[in-house]
Amino acid sequence: MSIEEKLSALAAEKAKVIGGGGPERTERQHRAGKLTARERLAQLFDQDSFTELDMFARHRCIEFGMDRTEAPGEGVVTGFGRVDGRPVYAFAQDFTVIGGSLGEAHASKIVKVMEMAAKVGAPLVGINDSGGARIQEGIDALDGYGRIFFRNTLSSGVIPQISVIAGPCAGGAVYSPALTDFVFMVDKTSQMFITGPQVIKAVTGEDVSLEDLGGSPTHNQTSGVAHFHAAGEAECLAQVKKLLSFLPANNLEDPPEAEPTDDPERRDPALAAAVPADPNRPYDVRDVIRPILDHGDLFETHQWYAANMVTGFARLDGQVIGVVANQPKVLAGCIDINASDKAARFVRFCDSFNIPLLTFVDTPGYLPGTAQEYGGIIRHGAKLLFAYSEATVPKLTVVLRKAYGGAYLAMCSRSLGADFSAAWPTAEIAVMGPEGAANIIFRRDIEQAGDPVQTRRDKEAEYRARFATPYPAAARGYIEAVIAPEDSRPVLIEVLRSLRSKRESRPAKKHGNIPL
Ligand code: HXC
Repeated sequence: MSIEEKLSALAAEKAKVIGGGGPERTERQHRAGKLTARERLAQLFDQDSFTELDMFARHRCIEFGMDRTEAPGEGVVTGFGRVDGRPVYAFAQDFTVIGGSLGEAHASKIVKVMEMAAKVGAPLVGINDSGGARIQEGIDALDGYGRIFFRNTLSSGVIPQISVIAGPCAGGAVYSPALTDFVFMVDKTSQMFITGPQVIKAVTGEDVSLEDLGGSPTHNQTSGVAHFHAAGEAECLAQVKKLLSFLPANNLEDPPEAEPTDDPERRDPALAAAVPADPNRPYDVRDVIRPILDHGDLFETHQWYAANMVTGFARLDGQVIGVVANQPKVLAGCIDINASDKAARFVRFCDSFNIPLLTFVDTPGYLPGTAQEYGGIIRHGAKLLFAYSEATVPKLTVVLRKAYGGAYLAMCSRSLGADFSAAWPTAEIAVMGPEGAANIIFRRDIEQAGDPVQTRRDKEAEYRARFATPYPAAARGYIEAVIAPEDSRPVLIEVLRSLRSKRESRPAKKHGNIPL
């Protein structure tokens, strides 16, 4: 064979792989409102920057007619490229090839990019669109999943791992995304579930549609399995890029700094009125946070889940930060089981990847009720204490209004290692709320008074005036400063700058035992 013939044979082989499952299946994929694996990667990566690996991988299965079944690319496209100029590794399952099902060779391709990403210290994006374990390959397919889970775990905290669910992701296959840092889902075209509607019907008798069971709204609002919801795939991939813009390539690097383009001295006088004087009036904490951040840009994670806690990425004078805040607009900002899990996981992510934490506090406490107690608010709430305590990144806290009891401690108090804790003059920092406190310490006075209702009110007011302010905490040094709301941005920027060189070491250990 001449070199020309060899080159044209190579081109033909490549074209076959690039064609995936062929025009008919590609057309079916498009009709379902989905892009193909290669189209997705083309949208994610900078133009012509993607290098594909293992195009010619082949399965070794001979069962059930598989010896005569071709699987171009083994049903998954793997490789590396650049996203906004920065290296990223990726795999994208190709549903047009045997339903994107995962066999031994398919898994080996994924494991290889996972290993390469960890070795070079670059983020990994996995685009999932698969019918699950390739049934014909049996136990070899199962082992493939096991190998992926193992790599996911080893890479956790070393490189950012991002999962995009862009089709079905069922059974044990869901556990690879679940082991990664962030899960993105697309409305109506992606589903995740352990057992499908038919099995559920047979076992429990429940009727549930595929979308209600495992669609994006379900996992973004109800289960908390997903962190991002998009109306379509283009929006989803744009969200992935935006997330990557906040993240370092690995745990040994700092997050990417942007050239500051927003005035660090910018003061917003409207902030003075942002927190209502009436402690029982709700407000949207995001209206308070945004004016403090560069360009008012807060990229929320888990936006639809446990909305009583806000988490997200932002920049202060170009430096990436992770924001955590109670949301008084939802459940009065109480901390419940889901909010604890949400915030604790976010805090641990930020700490893993050297992202300083900025916490805004306005919470009356943990959510009361048997549902919370029986659900284990004690151990879930403890996760938040654990996550903040073990975090060694710069930790800045601003108490906006209520900060009572254990919830005050949990929201990155000085006692848990905050480097700088400030309060607005509207802050109420105390061991418990005035209503509860007055009932306990003035019980006798109230019982014996001629007008118990008025006396209770008076005693509450007395307690509020004396203790529900930032000054007892400031007097003891539990907070470093009481600041005017409009000074928050310049003050926080200055503190963040001063903490750049922060180094905090902890006792050597294998790993802690967070109360899971
Ligand atoms: C082999 C599969 C497959 C699989 C789909 N295909 N899933 N082949 N193994 N797991 C094939 C189909 O036979 C079909 O081939 C092609 O892919 C496209 O599938 P369709 O069914 O035509 O597509 P659609 O109608 O869109 O339905 C998609 C689907 C359905 C809902 C995902 O294919 C499905 O239910 N698949 C099985 C899902 C499942 O039960 N997986 C669990 C496997 S066990 P042809 O040639 O006809 O076009 C498992 C355990 C993992 O995953 C444990 C890990 C720890």
